[in-house]
Amino acid sequence: MIRLKQFSCGYPNSPVLAQTDLTIAAGKITVVIGRNGSGKSTLAQVLAGLKLDFSGEVWLDELHLKRSTPMRELRQKVGLVLQNPDHQILFGRVQDEISFALQNLALPEITDLPKDKRARQSAIQAKRQEIVLEVLTQVGLADKINANPRELSGGQKQRLALASALALHPEYLILDEVASMLDLPSRRSVYRIIEKLKQQGIGVVMMTNLLDEILLADTVLILDNGKVTIVTPAEIIRNLDILTQHGLEAPLLLQVAKKINVESLRDLQDKL
Ligand SMILES: Nc1ncnc2c1ncn2[C@@H]1O[C@H](COP(=O)(O)OP(=O)(O)OP(=O)(O)O)[C@@H](O)[C@H]1O
Ligand SMILES: [Mg+2]
Repeated sequence: MIRLKQFSCGYPNSPVLAQTDLTIAAGKITVVIGRNGSGKSTLAQVLAGLKLDFSGEVWLDELHLKRSTPMRELRQKVGLVLQNPDHQILFGRVQDEISFALQNLALPEITDLPKDKRARQSAIQAKRQEIVLEVLTQVGLADKINANPRELSGGQKQRLALASALALHPEYLILDEVASMLDLPSRRSVYRIIEKLKQQGIGVVMMTNLLDEILLADTVLILDNGKVTIVTPAEIIRNLDILTQHGLEAPLLLQVAKKINVESLRDLQDKL
């Protein structure tokens, strides 16, 4: 569970959250919405341990977020993926993107490491390779293992970014507008991955301006003027005015969902 206690954060003249107590469930999908500038990205940075100038406390399970939190522990707890996949690419080969995450932040946990130095190195290398293949398979990119990431499509790049974030087997994944630059088929494939991650027990927190994405959620957080309102997708569908009350507008898909009385993306796809 992620816990915020008496949490306040923001910038001069823009409170993002003020004196907030909030919990975010492990193993569920939480979608965070709110008008432009309401603080979604700021919250994403906080939850990913990148923004520490807040007051109050933030706990990721038993991990207390503070300056002294070791990066390795942090990244094994929480991964972050951002909107623009181009900004997340550093290397010339898909597999190097992922091994980099593994090399830089933590050696994979391997039991029974051989004592001999060379054998040890090759055991570590083999484990890395195993994880690279595992996470690429998870996002449907195993056949691109030797490709140049710059030659992937936007949707494939975003799936690669997800794979890199998954390499350290985090328990939470924070996604800031991950689908907003993708076309519809790519979005759908990212949504399918997110649903699979939930089935594997990963807690996903998705910041988004694409309000249709609330249909993926177990819980929706609406940020508005320093406050957070917690609702379920069903409550929003039944009463689309909740969105209007927070300066948002129900997109057509949610209006259709209301009309035909469905409350999740899966049900909606089945019905349409
Ligand atoms: N580095 C910064 N310095 C000063 N103010 C900032 C900074 N980053 C964000 N802000 C302000 O903090 C508030 C929250 O911004 P944030 O980017 O978190 O909102 P958001 O909900 O992600 O918006 P969007 O929907 O446009 O992505 C805004 O008023 C913004 O102007
Ligand atoms: Mg943002």
